[in-house]
Amino acid sequence: MQDLNQLQKYFKETTLDDAITLPAELYCTDQAYQLDQQAIFANSWQCVGHISQVPENGDTLLVTIANRPIVVVKDHQSELKAFYNVCKHRAGPLVLQQGNIKLFSCKYHGWTYKLDGQLRTAPEMADTPNFNTCDIHLDKVNIDLWQGYIFVNLNLSPKPLKEYLGGIENIIKPIDLNKMVFHHRDEYNIACNWKTYMDNYLEGYHLPHVHPGLNKMLDYKSYTTELFDWYSYQHSPLENQASFYGEGSAHYFCVYPNLMFNILPGRCQVNIILPTSANQCKVIFDYYYTNPDSEVTQKMIAEDLSFSDEVQDEDITICEQVQKGLESGVYHQGRLCVKREQGVWHYQELLRKAYRSCSKHS
Ligand code: FES
Ligand SMILES: [Fe+2]
Repeated sequence: MQDLNQLQKYFKETTLDDAITLPAELYCTDQAYQLDQQAIFANSWQCVGHISQVPENGDTLLVTIANRPIVVVKDHQSELKAFYNVCKHRAGPLVLQQGNIKLFSCKYHGWTYKLDGQLRTAPEMADTPNFNTCDIHLDKVNIDLWQGYIFVNLNLSPKPLKEYLGGIENIIKPIDLNKMVFHHRDEYNIACNWKTYMDNYLEGYHLPHVHPGLNKMLDYKSYTTELFDWYSYQHSPLENQASFYGEGSAHYFCVYPNLMFNILPGRCQVNIILPTSANQCKVIFDYYYTNPDSEVTQKMIAEDLSFSDEVQDEDITICEQVQKGLESGVYHQGRLCVKREQGVWHYQELLRKAYRSCSKHS
């Protein structure tokens, strides 16, 4: 790719001391959108849901990652499997909507597959020479679980999921994600590149200027960022008078490449950021709570949701304005603050690494 070669100079490693942002063109162009799909989304663990969404054998989840349709199914042995939702005959769809199935049944000419992906029946193919059903199998996608969350990875030999997330469960103790249950999902379509939203999440530098309410609840002076191999961890003690979450800490984890766990006492909000075009993204907020039916929790949930909406509105507004700045043609790159933006630097280094590896193979 000719243009990709021109971008190579921005993919070189940087140190925190000379940290400079990725160039604006990576946030605006169709070419950058395609690069992200290939270098990032086709090569990383993607959170696609939670085990509570597939309680019965035969339950399915449908997702699209890097433009590829995928079906997750809980098979007859209660094991989770993932396949491309594309028939091996002439690319018809196997599953059109989430629900419960006994087998995969293609909607085009009716070929059926067992839940392990093996072709079972192919109507009227008996007279076709050299055609054996036992030779045909749906293409599998790697799947794994962490603390009840379901992940898939399109890479054929990915690093273990544990390498990406390991350690989070110890940092947040005594909070236990396994004790929380799914409450509901909110979705936002935002007029900014998905990385604009990611970068914004990765620093508390904007807190005093963008989030006056949140700034009261958190202790900005004690707000810290720690860097791990594949995630960064922002942390602040809660200011007790201002917090309806009770005593404890706010834990914000940003896991490469597009996943956030916002954990507070009794509550976990999972964010998944998905590109929908060069300058638009979809942001998913899934809410999980411990004992969601108790009276105390219900009160906390009501306050949590209205407060989360306020903070999210503030973030959406600033991200959409920043996107306009990135697209203006008058901004190229900027220096990062060593004290407050090390999370952005660390994240953009992981992106640079993925871009380098993609250009090596293209
Ligand atoms: S495409 Fe699936 S049966 Fe023909
Ligand atoms: Fe923010």
